[in-house]
Amino acid sequence: MSKEVDKKHITGGETDGGITSSYATNDGVKLKVPYSFMGSIYGEEEEQAVLAAMKQDTLTMGPKTAEFQDKFAKLCDVKHALAVSNCTTGMHVATQLFDIKKGDEVIVTPNTFIATSLVILKEGGIPVYADIDPRTYNIDPASVAKLITPKTKAIYVVHYGGLMVDMDPIMEIARKHNLYVLEDCAHAHTAEYKGRKAGSIGDVGVFSFHSLKNMTTCGEGGMITTNNDEFAKGIEMLRCMNLTHWKPEDHRWQFGNIACEKKSDLDYWLPSHFDVDDWNGHWGNNYRMNEIQAAVGCCQVDKAKMLTDKRREIGHKITAGLQDITGITPVFEPEECKHVFHLYTLCVEEEELGASRDEFMRVLYKEEGIQGILHYQPTYHFTGLKKMGYDQNQCPNANAFFYKRELNLPMHPKLTDDAIKTMVAGIRRAAEKVRR
Ligand SMILES: Cc1ncc(COP(=O)(O)O)c(C=O)c1O
Repeated sequence: MSKEVDKKHITGGETDGGITSSYATNDGVKLKVPYSFMGSIYGEEEEQAVLAAMKQDTLTMGPKTAEFQDKFAKLCDVKHALAVSNCTTGMHVATQLFDIKKGDEVIVTPNTFIATSLVILKEGGIPVYADIDPRTYNIDPASVAKLITPKTKAIYVVHYGGLMVDMDPIMEIARKHNLYVLEDCAHAHTAEYKGRKAGSIGDVGVFSFHSLKNMTTCGEGGMITTNNDEFAKGIEMLRCMNLTHWKPEDHRWQFGNIACEKKSDLDYWLPSHFDVDDWNGHWGNNYRMNEIQAAVGCCQVDKAKMLTDKRREIGHKITAGLQDITGITPVFEPEECKHVFHLYTLCVEEEELGASRDEFMRVLYKEEGIQGILHYQPTYHFTGLKKMGYDQNQCPNANAFFYKRELNLPMHPKLTDDAIKTMVAGIRRAAEKVRR
């Protein structure tokens, strides 16, 4: 390893993945509680699972993928779970299943990672941004209802931070207007809404197993969930280059001078290993997961309850610590929801605190050593979307949330009680220091 590469790894600064693998700042600030890029817990089980999978005869789409899918379907109370390379590719498959085409409108939250809009844009669809609820930070059904047009084809929701969207009114709007619903569950493994699991309510749910997420399959991975049998068939083809089986009773076998009535009359190597067909006019990609990832995924499903319980315990301790700080709003957890605290989002209310979010965050970072991060810049503010002519003020709650109010604290299941106490005390002190 060259000295230069070595140095990069020591500082954790410019890693190869850049913004997708590190929030290191390298500005000399001594952090007491840094933001972590590992969202889960690995142990002996994952290590053994990796080694065992490496000895298998096949390293892709084998027994571990089947087992992981089965376990994940049970975890989410759904009929089908199909593994994919990541959440973005999974949402791309869903967008093809919904037959989103050039000019179709999809109503979506702007408070999300770019992936949620990207998959719409890739198919030529138009993301139409609904505003968020200022208390839950999730898409607001009332805002969605106002944006329906004859061109609307689907609604894409994101369970932001691990709190599920108010799904009943979303599904009611969808049923009334004959729209598909995609749940972006990247933050919401095992989250619940009125006793129902994330990924089990919309037409399709898509999960991420990226390094930061509540469960991870070696840093990348995804899963599509659905109760729709036809969609499950479509997913199998679209995640795997439209490959399909020859139909066994197809009466059309004629190869050179070989002719027969049924495929079963042919040698096994004929007509070829697989058939290829379009899916409603759509062509897929190679979006498969490998067996090593799936083997780790099985262990992560076995740990899902423990991982969620830990995040909830930590989240509740932080919330308890942040009570009664005028100007600081802790996480809101509606009674009908099980929040899984992918993010711990606090809001700084400038009017009440007498200082801006950025003033507060600066003190919190530089003087208290606590690294807050912001998720998410409203999607329509990115250069590429700005160029498309989106009104930059169209979602006032989402704009205020990102630019004035929110801050995500370090949150992962290995946070210790000491780290929680340090954060809570740091937040209290920072609030008092900036208060005017
Ligand atoms: C809300 C949301 N959607 C989608 C994604 C994309 O997930 P992946 O990296 O697995 O493609 C992310 C990942 O950061 C996300 O946070």
